[in-house]
Amino acid sequence: MARLLPILVFVIFNSLLLLSSGSQPASLKPNKLVLPVLKDKATQLFTTNIHKRTPPLQFPFVVHLNGKFLWVTCDRKYLSSTYQAPICHSTQCARATSISTSTKAPASNCFTCSSRARPGCHNNTCGLMTVNPITHQASMGELAQDVLSIQSSKGSNPSRFVSVPRFLFSCASSSLLNRGLPRNVQGVVGLGHAPISLPTQLASHFGFAPKFALCLPSSTSSYGAIFFGDGPYYMRPGNTDVSRPLSFTPLTISPRGKYHISVTQIRINNNPVPVDSALLTMNKQGRGGTKISTTKPFTVLEHSIFQSVATYFANELYSKYKVPQVKAVAPFGLCFDSRKLSSTRLGLGVPNIDLVLKNNQNVKWTIPGANSMVQAGPGVACLAFIDGGVRHRASMVIGAHQLQDNLLQFDLAMSMFGFSSSLLLRGTSCSNFNFTATSTTPLME
Ligand SMILES: *[C@@H]1O[C@H](CO)[C@@H](O)[C@H](O)[C@H]1NC(C)=O
Ligand SMILES: *[C@@H]1O[C@H](CO)[C@@H](O)[C@H](O)[C@H]1NC(C)=O
Repeated sequence: MARLLPILVFVIFNSLLLLSSGSQPASLKPNKLVLPVLKDKATQLFTTNIHKRTPPLQFPFVVHLNGKFLWVTCDRKYLSSTYQAPICHSTQCARATSISTSTKAPASNCFTCSSRARPGCHNNTCGLMTVNPITHQASMGELAQDVLSIQSSKGSNPSRFVSVPRFLFSCASSSLLNRGLPRNVQGVVGLGHAPISLPTQLASHFGFAPKFALCLPSSTSSYGAIFFGDGPYYMRPGNTDVSRPLSFTPLTISPRGKYHISVTQIRINNNPVPVDSALLTMNKQGRGGTKISTTKPFTVLEHSIFQSVATYFANELYSKYKVPQVKAVAPFGLCFDSRKLSSTRLGLGVPNIDLVLKNNQNVKWTIPGANSMVQAGPGVACLAFIDGGVRHRASMVIGAHQLQDNLLQFDLAMSMFGFSSSLLLRGTSCSNFNFTATSTTPLME
């Protein structure tokens, strides 16, 4: 009996795996998935294509790092034989509406709809408050489940499609798409720390660690990548594994469920910029600190931090490089005569800005010219940071221009944030993943 026990446990464990994968043999489970990500020229937002429904169709979605779930418009001809809307007291509803950072029981979420029954319009289903992340317009959506398909990968090239048969999302009104978003998108995909966000559902369905990585492109004409599951993630040329080495710092979740890191000092040309350190720490109410966002095109700094950084940066450029300021171009507050600046493989030749993390002078996120400057007009280059005034919740919101061409890994099991700093330093970029599919046959790991 004692010798049989481990075998029995093994058999039971395997049958559980089989059950959870919906009769797909466990050996066929992928441990890494990949999505292509494109930067929209008009809005500077990032979009990705996701395959959903039966039969499967591909739609563009805005990538929202701090979004809690995927939402899609359903009132424009949602046709799918596998659409279901869980009722309002279902386990799916409890999961979708539970707030991970609070112990408060969710309020009743029963949804009603007065027009003709269709996807997104049923009585007694589960309501999910759905928000446009740019305009903050909100409306009640219906919790729904349907098939989602995504390409697996072994680290280089996408491979066969795998699917989540009962992927949970919000079926929302198309009025939410009216403003602020790229014209062709059909919804928003949330990558947040939340029970039904895309990374959470993929990790729990396929049984890999809840870890994902962003590699956002700097160009609007080539694809970057979002990886789900652990590295390696290979980029051309020469199959560079951009998941190694990474620097790590604790990842924290604000009371509102947003991704934060702890920046303790800002350095320019290796010298500390004087800032009020109280602003850099998040307090109990969730004010202050540093948030990461894919929906802000440029990093937003609290007013006094912006002034301090801008003054220091302008002095450095003038005293060391004799680069004069020119009239600022909105929305930027500090601009220079770009003809006086040299071009390097790391962008315009300006002093590096370093974000020093968690009291360790050795863990720093280096921002070279490619991520700190933006060409705002002919002969005008501006510091790509925005003065956010004094009303903002976070003191720093690190935005897209500073995130692009960096590999950023969010490890939700270890609460760690891993970052590469600019991949240009390693002779590659986020536009160098090879999206040529290699296989349509099942993976055998
Ligand atoms: C929901 O219930 C109301 C009141 O009973 C009814 O008028 C309406 O048609 C129902 N909606 C759907 C989608 O069945
Ligand atoms: C991309 O991958 C495909 C399939 O492995 C390969 O044939 C092709 O040469 C690769 N392209 C580049 C530019 O490396």
